[in-house]
Amino acid sequence: MELRPFLEKLPKAELHVHIEGTLEPELSFALAQKNNVSLQAKTPQEMIAAYNFHDLPSFLDIYYAGMSVLKDESDFYQLTMHYLRKAATQNIVYVELFFDPQAHTSRGVSFDTVINGIHRARSDAAAELSVQTNLILCFLRDMSAESAMEHLMMAQPHLDKIIGVGLDSDEKNNPPAKFSAVFEKARSMGLKLTMHCDVNQDNTLEHIRQVIEDIGVDRIDHGVNILESEALCNLAREKKLGLTVCPVSNRFVVQSLTSAEIKKMLQYGLMPCINSDDPSYFRAYLNENFIALQEEGDFTVKELVTLAENSFKASWLPDAQKQAYLADLQDYVSEYQEI
Ligand code: ADE
Ligand code: ZN
Repeated sequence: MELRPFLEKLPKAELHVHIEGTLEPELSFALAQKNNVSLQAKTPQEMIAAYNFHDLPSFLDIYYAGMSVLKDESDFYQLTMHYLRKAATQNIVYVELFFDPQAHTSRGVSFDTVINGIHRARSDAAAELSVQTNLILCFLRDMSAESAMEHLMMAQPHLDKIIGVGLDSDEKNNPPAKFSAVFEKARSMGLKLTMHCDVNQDNTLEHIRQVIEDIGVDRIDHGVNILESEALCNLAREKKLGLTVCPVSNRFVVQSLTSAEIKKMLQYGLMPCINSDDPSYFRAYLNENFIALQEEGDFTVKELVTLAENSFKASWLPDAQKQAYLADLQDYVSEYQEI
């Protein structure tokens, strides 16, 4: 069976994509011109050539600098619509989208501007593209817990637009425990919880332990190092915690697609799924992640289908909707195998 077309048409969900990480250079240039922002690069090609990250901080510097072109509600609308159009072409039928409000309020762009622009695109994408979405507010862990709490309060009038909260940015010296009160408050507001445990970070096993045992997350972003602890693997398996792994992102940040680790996760009965993280910067959307993984790891069809199933199982959709998406996925696989 030819796996590339099979993977391209496979119905799937994406649970780990930062909307700001989908900003394509061409859109950057268009918005820079509209908003009178000057960019260092002269062309989109020159911009891409400067993407020379080799670890998390060197990526984050470029990622935050790129956001300077996002100013008004229509910019956030365009950014989101652009990604969701691309998602539709990749047969992504459901997305849980991260956004980083502190990266915008710190530049003088209001929380309402950001969320209203993103939300309007979500509504249009559901109607025009049949791509369903939910939104996850991410706190920047290299900012203070007080700032995170302030932003959670800004989200209060918008709770109907947000399904959960996450934690991203630079993990070094910023453990999950720093945000325990904010996440407890978010839980009491009815929000789901996830946190990044980026690959090969200092104290990674203690961070993974904290997110599972102390914070009580509903999912873990990345979390690949969990394989180093049998006790943590057992906990994640018992709690049926999804792990949103991002192979091409890993290749940039830790110089490995982590295909062997993803296989091991499947063998250990964990629930990994595949994601793009920041697809514009890493030059790979979800299908390219699946294809790169398959090429390196020689995954079986069954393993690839399990990874796609996990993207729905680990989602925060109501059970009936999960089952409906899983049934569509099964239909697709059965029809494909008959051909
Ligand atoms: N922000 C955007 N992508 C991220 C990642 N992979 N890790 C931490 N923060 C991020
Ligand atoms: Zn991420």
